[in-house]
Order: sequence, then C-alpha cells, then structure tokens
Amino acid sequence: MNRILVEFAHPAIQKSRINRRLIQAVKELENVTLNDLYEKYPDFFIDVKKEQQLLLEHDIIVWHHPFYWYSAPALLKEWMDLVLVHGWAYGEHGRMLEGKTVLSVISTGGRLEVYSKEGRNRFSIQEFLVPFKQSANLCRMEYLPPFVVHGAHTISDNEISEYAENYKKALTMLRSDAVDRDRLMKAAYFNDLIE
Ligand SMILES: Cc1cc2nc3c(=O)[nH]c(=O)nc-3n(C[C@H](O)[C@H](O)[C@H](O)COP(=O)(O)O)c2cc1C
Repeated sequence: MNRILVEFAHPAIQKSRINRRLIQAVKELENVTLNDLYEKYPDFFIDVKKEQQLLLEHDIIVWHHPFYWYSAPALLKEWMDLVLVHGWAYGEHGRMLEGKTVLSVISTGGRLEVYSKEGRNRFSIQEFLVPFKQSANLCRMEYLPPFVVHGAHTISDNEISEYAENYKKALTMLRSDAVDRDRLMKAAYFNDLIE
C-alpha cells in the first residue's frame, strides 16, 4: 500500500466551504497523513528537517490548496522554497524524492469554461500549474493530472459532497495503485478517471 502525504495549505479554513469538506473526507483514511501547514506553522517558521523526514516516509505527495492568484497560498510556496532544497530534493546529488508521485488538488472560484484560451482567465488550469509540474519533475517525481473543484462559490452542497467522495476515491485508488497510469497521464484532470 502506498503511503500518501497531504500537504494542505488553506489560510482561512474556518471560512472554507469546499476544502474543509474535502479534508474531512480523507483525513481518517488509512495510510493517509494530513499535514495541515497553516495549522502547524501560523508564523511561517517551517521545521525543514521535520518536513523532509515526513516526505521520506511517504510515496505520494498531495499539494492540496485553494487556487489563489493562479497559484498556491503563500505558505505552500514557502514550504517549497525551504524544504525542496538543492542537494536534497534536486541537483546532481539531490535524489531524496526520486520516484515519488505528486498530485495537485485545488479548488478554484472560476468555472471550467473561464480556464481556456477564449475564457476570462485565458489559460487552462494545466498551464497555470506548470511551475508545480516542473518543480516535481526537477525533483524526479511524477506529476499527475490535477484533481480540481471548479466554481467553488456556485456549486451546490450536493456537488461538494460528490467532489469530497471523489477525492476520497482518488486517494484510495492511488493508495492501492489501482490507477490505469496510461489513461491517467492522457487525461486533463484526475477527476476524469473516477467513475
Ligand atoms: C486571495 C484569493 C485569491 C484567489 N485567486 C483565485 C484565482 O486566481 N483563481 C480562481 O479561480 N479563484 C481564486 N480565488 C477563489 C478561491 O479559489 C476560492 O475562494 C476557493 O477555492 C474556495 O475554497 P474554500 O471554500 O475551501 O475556501 C481566490 C480567492 C482568494 C481569497
């Protein structure tokens, strides 16, 4: 069974409509560790050694956050800056993360149709996520198509429940390697693989 580490970054979880529900759905899963970064480091003083040790203990890393300014909330970026360092995570002798898998799990205010060439945001989600994908690749990790909840402010409670259930299914599939990797890597979204 793969061990999954959810690196969760939400600066205002008490106001969250979407991600609180997603987290509730997966936090008790066996072999899934929830690492709530804003809860742990409200002052941004990250314990780098501890965070690196956590990474070593897991096979699949999830970067889970609401989409803020076409990117992640600041603490996840700080975590990347400090934890994924040269000589450890990347570089000729930095191979500690080699062979692991990364999945981005994000919620966006914008609906799917605004994330296109013709839409208001002009680029697809996959294009906005390139820095995450390439950061994973630089660390010799495989970056999967993202699991995305679009239209965070307008979807119904029932739709949120469905997304939460599907997030749980996604992690369960990854945990037991029950994913058709060829099909997955051709998909735009991880969501497309969930029945
Ligand atoms: C500071 C900030 C920046 C945001 N930037 C974006 C953005 O770039 N694109 C987008 O689609 N939504 C954006 N949003 C909307 C959030 O993605 C949305 O509120 C969040 O996904 C909802 O999840 P929650 O209910 O768990 O907070 C932004 C929201 C905030 C507060």
